[in-house]
Amino acid sequence: MIQIAIDGPSGAGKSTVAKALAKKMGIVYVDTGALYRTVGYYVRSQSKDPKNAAEVEALLPSVKVELKYENGVQKVYLNGEDLGDRIRTPEMSMYASAVSAIPAVRAFLLETQRKIARENSVVMDGRDIGTVILPNADVKIFLTASDECRAQRRCDELRAKGIETTVEEVLADMRERDANDRNRAVAPAVAAPDAIPFDNSGMTPDECTDGIIALIRERVGGDV
Ligand code: DC
Repeated sequence: MIQIAIDGPSGAGKSTVAKALAKKMGIVYVDTGALYRTVGYYVRSQSKDPKNAAEVEALLPSVKVELKYENGVQKVYLNGEDLGDRIRTPEMSMYASAVSAIPAVRAFLLETQRKIARENSVVMDGRDIGTVILPNADVKIFLTASDECRAQRRCDELRAKGIETTVEEVLADMRERDANDRNRAVAPAVAAPDAIPFDNSGMTPDECTDGIIALIRERVGGDV
């Protein structure tokens, strides 16, 4: 069994690298941001304020979040329903970031994440994987890129999904969300002391993945 933790700010390319690694290594990819997005989606559907900890906490008993894998692709079910790309909008990014600062929400999603890593070899991406969820992960990577680079990638991603936006708009949203995530009191989005920093500004996805594979090989040996 192996555990690989990939943390870092939004748009750093965590999911692209993590998916490529999972495929190459034949292990499970866990996108933990999708769990927070799903809780955010539910809060929005109930017309509640995602920053109001008491209101959000009161909703949790009626939320069931399940991770399932269909043909190797992760699906997150909310009360039995697959939300698909509905959790991928810029609005849901903000809702996810807001609810993720609430300690009860983090506690609520903790076991779902640890359980899948107990039962499978995983590459897990998020913000607190190396610090909180898998503190004993075999390899921890903290992935970053310049703000401009990250905003351009996120913008391209959103446009590919048919969501019209501009780089400036994405950059402003991203900075606000990163500041929320980095400065919150519980499980702030910071590198674990033993994480390897990796800046992929200007790299193609393949170059970044190859660089990370080389780092993993150094840490765990050649069978990657
Ligand atoms: O990775 P993402 O953009 O889908 O994550 C959405 C939000 O969820 C992000 O702004 C912060 C939060 N998050 C978190 O707090 N901890 C994680 N492990 C993953 C995501």
